[in-house]
Amino acid sequence: MNVLVIGSGGREHALVWKLRQSRHVEALSCAPGNAGIGRYADLVPMKATDLEGLARFAKENRIDLTVVGPEQPLVLGIVDLFESQGMRIFGPTKAAARLEGSKVFAKDFMATHSIPTARFKSFHSSERLEAERFIDDLAPPIVVKADGLAAGKGVLICETMESAIVALDEVMVKKSFGSAGDKVLIEEFLVGEEASVFAITDGERFITLAPAQDHKRILDGDLGKNTGGMGAYAPAPVVTDAILRRVVDEIILPTLKGMEVAGTPYRGCLYCGLMITETGPKVIEYNCRLGDPEAQVVIPLIDGDLAEMLLAVATGTLDQHVARQHAASAVCVVMASRGYPDDYETGMSIQGLDSVSLEEGIVVFHAGTRRDGEQILTSGGRVLGVTAIGYDHDLQGTIRNAYRAIQRIAFDGAYYRSDIGGKALKYIDTTRK
Ligand code: AMP
Ligand code: GLY
Repeated sequence: MNVLVIGSGGREHALVWKLRQSRHVEALSCAPGNAGIGRYADLVPMKATDLEGLARFAKENRIDLTVVGPEQPLVLGIVDLFESQGMRIFGPTKAAARLEGSKVFAKDFMATHSIPTARFKSFHSSERLEAERFIDDLAPPIVVKADGLAAGKGVLICETMESAIVALDEVMVKKSFGSAGDKVLIEEFLVGEEASVFAITDGERFITLAPAQDHKRILDGDLGKNTGGMGAYAPAPVVTDAILRRVVDEIILPTLKGMEVAGTPYRGCLYCGLMITETGPKVIEYNCRLGDPEAQVVIPLIDGDLAEMLLAVATGTLDQHVARQHAASAVCVVMASRGYPDDYETGMSIQGLDSVSLEEGIVVFHAGTRRDGEQILTSGGRVLGVTAIGYDHDLQGTIRNAYRAIQRIAFDGAYYRSDIGGKALKYIDTTRK
């Protein structure tokens, strides 16, 4: 098979790495990719949002399967475009990708299908007074969200009623998130632990991957600014077998059924961003693709042929019986550029990448890197995802292995959190007592 992966981050590196191991994959290309991906795939210098260009490339190069990493091309309708030209592609259609592309659409959908989520109301920018009145009805903290895609920045958590009103003005009046804020969502604050569950689905049948936990804040102890994700691990013990069963029954099944009934069946990866509350799992958000950095830990745990699985989704032939057991545990620690998620410098030379190997259970997924002759240079805020794969059920050992590896890799201004996976150990500790 001739496979094209779209995207350029750690998630896409993990996809390419796993697809390389497939016995079905003969040729692999990635648009636009990064220095790490370039070791396994031919890099195609095309933007992930250049839908027409990508379709032309796929046609000319007889691509048998295209796998889409990030959300923008999906929300723009890349799947519709490829399928209209008879090409196979992994991901939801534009209509189905609205589950991520519009938070208001997603919340209305959840309300219609009784899928557990935070209590909410949505408002047009002309309904400022009504929005204020709803804020009065809720107890702080209050969550204010811009409706559309805002690169993970359109969510404001407000500790007081006053700051919620200020947030409302940011979105509705000052338009800080542009047209993403044409509609605004106000919702109650959920208390619990966050986890991500991915369902790989052909619209009817599905496979759940190992539940994962991201670390979105920049500083240890979940403090500081929100980022794209500073590390992840899987499986997340907070998603017990009983919780996972509830996620399937109360969230995944009704979501797939609801999308099918609406005439917009969901195919691809359904990302359920969850809060595990005292009363059970609730949806914080859906995404229409794999998470980043969660992909870097759930993909290595798939015990099977990824190309086979993704092709089965694209052709609507996913057989539930191909679901395989996940092996042990994986931990990914993100190395970022000093200053991220605000301004940072790039072009720093990275040392020590060859000092780690899969034999010792380490794989380094590149996020923001580029090659310059023999050197690998930093080119983004999140630079590397140093990932440890544990072959026995010893999460603590896997965490230790990831941090041992990170000591051997260096670039000027490298920053990483030192507590990735810590919540899992705490959880295991308290449930044992
Ligand atoms: P989102 O972009 O919807 O994933 O939101 C970003 C982050 O904000 C989430 O990962 C949560 O940490 C937090 N968040 C969003 N909505 C809520 C909520 N209703 N209650 C508590 N935290 C939330
Ligand atoms: N890790 C969060 C996301 O991919 O949206």
